[in-house]
Formats: sequence, C-alpha cells, structure tokens
Amino acid sequence: MARKLIIAANWKMNKGPSETGGFLKTFLAKIAPSTSNCEVVVAPPFVSLATASELVANSNVELAAQNVSEYDSGAYTGEINVVMLKELFVRHVILGHSERRSIYGETDAVINAKIKKAREANLKPIFCIGETLEEREAGKLEEVLRTQVRGGLDGVSEKDLLESVLAYEPVWAIGTGVTASPEQAQEAHAFVRSLLAEFYGAAVSEKIRIQYGGSVKPGNSAELMGQPDIDGALVGGASLEAQSFLELIENAVAGA
Ligand code: 13P
Repeated sequence: MARKLIIAANWKMNKGPSETGGFLKTFLAKIAPSTSNCEVVVAPPFVSLATASELVANSNVELAAQNVSEYDSGAYTGEINVVMLKELFVRHVILGHSERRSIYGETDAVINAKIKKAREANLKPIFCIGETLEEREAGKLEEVLRTQVRGGLDGVSEKDLLESVLAYEPVWAIGTGVTASPEQAQEAHAFVRSLLAEFYGAAVSEKIRIQYGGSVKPGNSAELMGQPDIDGALVGGASLEAQSFLELIENAVAGA
C-alpha cells in the first residue's frame, strides 16, 4: 500500500529564532513543487517555534516540537506542555529520541505517558526507537525493538497509533556518519512493522509510516527511501543547512 513519504528535520539544540527565520526563508523560497507529495516537517528548539510557526503558516511545511511534558501544567520547572505547543500550531512531537533516553533517562514508561498526552491534544507523535551498537552486536536487536515498541505503545489505541509515525534510529548511526545499509535498515523496519502487525493487526501495520534516522544525507536518501518498509527520514545534521535538506528531500522523493 502506498504510504506518503514523511521527512522531518530534527535540529536538536541548534538554531535560535533568528537562525530559524533565516533558514526557513531560504528553504520555503526554494522548496520545489515536486516535493508536494512528501510531508515535510521541521522541528526547531522550543524557543524558535513561534518564529517558525509564523513563517510556515501558508506553506506545506509542518512544525514539530522535539519533546513535550507528560504533565498538564503547574510546578514542573523547565517543562513545556501540549497546550503551549498547540497554541503555536505545532502538529507533531518527537518522542523517545535516543538522546532523551540516554542523556535524560527517559524510560519506555515516560515515553508512553508522553505519547498518550500528545494524543489527548491531537499532536502527532514521531515515536523513536533503536538499538545501540552493543545491543546489535550482542544479537539483541529484535529484543530491544520489541521492548521499546511494546512499552512505548502500551495502551495506545489503534486510532491514536494511526495518527503516529515511528522512527527507527539505530543509535550507532546517529551523528556518526555511519549509516545503516539500506538492507540493514529495511530488515529492522520490516521487523518493526511485524511487531505492529502482532499488536494491532496487519491492516493497521501496513498504514503506519516508519522513518529511518541516522546519518541520512542527500547522497543516501534515495536508496534508503527505495526500500519497501522505509517511509521517510528523521534527519539531524543534514537538515541544518537549507540547500542540503532540500537536496535530501528531492532525492528521497525521486528514490521512493
Ligand atoms: P543525524 O542525521 O545527525 O545522524 O541525526 C539523526 C537523528 O538523531 C535525528 O533524530
């Protein structure tokens, strides 16, 4: 079944409001109509969302946040809730990124609570999963993915899953320049889809888009997107420069 490509820029802790403005002006002026059959999402830091929101308002580019609180409001110093994101017309939220897991100690249970909170506000989770090199080398790839998918989606309804995207990001490929080969990525994506089929049924699993993330660049996006179970990309480094991100998208669309 045809799943619409979804390519998202995760800027991580890069680009304040002025740099965000500069990027988006260039990017929006150059984005080609040929990419209109591809959903394009940009995830700036929280403080740049208001600027980005104004600039993307009349475009096909959608906004994502990089995180959200699992709580409603109140005494949670440093946190941002779903209502605040909605006020800025944010549509998606990246949850479960390996940097949130490893640096900030987010567990599957916390990620699960955040996915549910996001869905209560009709935000669309981009739910990230992926194994470390140690886990892969120890033959634990499938076990790790199963635990993350089951834990993150525990109690998440079929309806809410259908409004979500998964992102397979092998930790060893993030920011390292080492990309999973298209075969390695396809194998993991097919396994993740089989998990979704086990938990939600085959028909639902066929509708869910699974992005690949980890050193995606203009030079490898076509081949990766050509794999049957890869439905998009979650891009860090190569999304920081407008021209590189544009090329990456164009090549991805051509290769899909
Ligand atoms: P890189 O594209 O820099 O490897 O980052 C991937 C990533 O973590 C996107 O969320």
